[in-house]
Amino acid sequence: MIYDERIEKVLYGGDYNPEQWSEDVWEEDMRLFALAGIDIVTLNVFSWASLQPDENTYCFEKLDKVMDLVEKNGLRVCMATSTAAHPAWMAKKYPDILRTEFNGMKRKFGSRHNSCQNSPTYQKYSVRLAKKLAEHYQDRECIVAWHVSNEYGGECYCENCEKAFRVWLKDKYQTIEELNRAWNTAFWGHTFYEWDEIVLPNLLSEHFAENRTTFQGISLDYRRFNSEGMLHCFKAEYEAIKSVIPDAKITTNLMGFYKPLDYQMWANEMDFISWDNYPANEDPYARIAMNHDIMRGIKGGQPFVLMEQTPSVTNWLAYNALKRPNVMRLWSYQAMAHGADAILFFQMRRSIGACEKYHGAVIDHVGHENTRVFREIAKLGEELKTLGSKTLGSTMDSKVAIVVDWDNWWALEYSAGPSCDLKYLDEVFGYYRALEEQNYSIDLIGVHDDLSKYEIVIAPILYMTKGTYDESIREYVKNGGTFITTFFSGIVDEYDLVITGGYPGHLRDILGIWVEEIDALPAETTNAFIYEGKEYEAKLLCDIMHLEGAKSLATYEKDFYANHPVITVNEYGKGKAYYIGTRSSEDFYRTFLKERLEEKGVRPVLEVEGVGIEATERIKGEKRYLFVLNHNEIEETFVMPKTKVDLLTGKTYNEGEIVTIPAKEVMILESC
Ligand code: GLA
Ligand code: ZN
Repeated sequence: MIYDERIEKVLYGGDYNPEQWSEDVWEEDMRLFALAGIDIVTLNVFSWASLQPDENTYCFEKLDKVMDLVEKNGLRVCMATSTAAHPAWMAKKYPDILRTEFNGMKRKFGSRHNSCQNSPTYQKYSVRLAKKLAEHYQDRECIVAWHVSNEYGGECYCENCEKAFRVWLKDKYQTIEELNRAWNTAFWGHTFYEWDEIVLPNLLSEHFAENRTTFQGISLDYRRFNSEGMLHCFKAEYEAIKSVIPDAKITTNLMGFYKPLDYQMWANEMDFISWDNYPANEDPYARIAMNHDIMRGIKGGQPFVLMEQTPSVTNWLAYNALKRPNVMRLWSYQAMAHGADAILFFQMRRSIGACEKYHGAVIDHVGHENTRVFREIAKLGEELKTLGSKTLGSTMDSKVAIVVDWDNWWALEYSAGPSCDLKYLDEVFGYYRALEEQNYSIDLIGVHDDLSKYEIVIAPILYMTKGTYDESIREYVKNGGTFITTFFSGIVDEYDLVITGGYPGHLRDILGIWVEEIDALPAETTNAFIYEGKEYEAKLLCDIMHLEGAKSLATYEKDFYANHPVITVNEYGKGKAYYIGTRSSEDFYRTFLKERLEEKGVRPVLEVEGVGIEATERIKGEKRYLFVLNHNEIEETFVMPKTKVDLLTGKTYNEGEIVTIPAKEVMILESC
């Protein structure tokens, strides 16, 4: 976690690029930062070319000057390592650093996030730079965190990567026979005899489109290899910094549900999680919440840092609408409501050239403080000072968990059939949203996390059951837990090989069913089922199943499988295992999940009518902080559950009082 005894409040600031400006502007920046209540800047994110003008020269003079200035002005620093964009001279001299794209095209110098993670040049010089920075700045007290590279991502298909992939595979499978088994290479005559017969899976080989592969095994392994390769680069810089500053707190900025990188694995190697939140105005608030919750979830529920958000607009959408008045503040508190302990922006001063000149900033092109955006920023800055350290380090106590797994995500979406509309996050979100909009506190956990503290565990499309995960679920249900899973679960093992003997494979005894066939419904086509007297739709996939101990709770209405079970429950040990054999509507998920939660005595953090009043609770020792956010365009009311004081206004509300909360307003309520 970023916090230690030196941090007395929610840190507030963002990416600052003084290298793009002359020094007189820096002084003005300091004045404006103070006005806005800014107390931290992230420096040096894209400065490799100026820090290292050639192979052997490193110059820190400019950064020293910036450091002196920010230090003098009492700002904290999040120090980046600058390794997300290599210098042009390096690419010219060592072309191995350049990436090769999915279509086989070797790139030239340009853009950013452009280095091959398996390039010996990149590995050598990125680590060297991180170490030099650590050595040079180790005594600077103002540095409270280190920020390695920036938004790791993408992939590379160059020859170095191909060689490294073979080494990775050899290490994983040990023998070529084992690899042939795992990839089922007897199909289409793909048997390999030598490791160097294996080539990277892209458009030149197994793929005919980004997510379309003829061999899932190799494509899935490439995803793992790519994620681990980048993680290896992160770790190398991490260790270089730690070798100089053992107690440095090191992170890299993640991106929420970013498919290419297995963040659950990454989190183990990071001191604290930080991430960049760039929702579109039309995103449902529950979707933003889900991103925050995965970022909290990957590190066992620890608070995280909101490393970037735009104060106003982005530049990279088709239509870059302004954040509406008060929405920046609302979304900043939403981040805190889900676990953020620091709020940072991209960017502090709006640049004048290249592709981010129309991206929002704390200081706009006009250069002064008399803007709507600046006023909103300064207001939040004041409030964060008033809040002080109250919420810092507080955590959440959820009784419901939703299981998310990157391998499952990759494998599911590489699957050829049963439906091209099968999208992992859509299913996860269906369940998440139904809970979140009713204000249940939810943890998003991985397959290695302990289940025993949850009353209910939901695993939407657990297509892949890896290793002994079925054992963990069995234990959990036997001991009284409620487990809910859906159609197309328990199908394959961790190699994406089908588990034979009847779907849902190793989950069959727990669920007490056998799924004989799976029907994919074309878009716009629906079936239906009646649950407790009400009709709900069935779409996307319809599992056709037999009961093997489970009880049917609803049956299909139409087609040749009319009257076959679609929703089942199996009493197993002291617990219950539910199977939802199709995709249904939000309405169904809300009703069904609420019943399960009520059965288990789990209550929402705050009961409200309708949708749009979001509530979460952060807990610190005896203290409980209830965040209430009105995402709607109109004022709303709710009943105050206990006597509480609003930390933002100082106003006290009595238990049972009907409270009006204006549109886009926020309350942080502490029990009296
Ligand atoms: C990302 C990057 C930043 C900046 C912003 C703009 O989050 O990390 O450097 O490019 O996007 O939205
Ligand atoms: Zn490469």
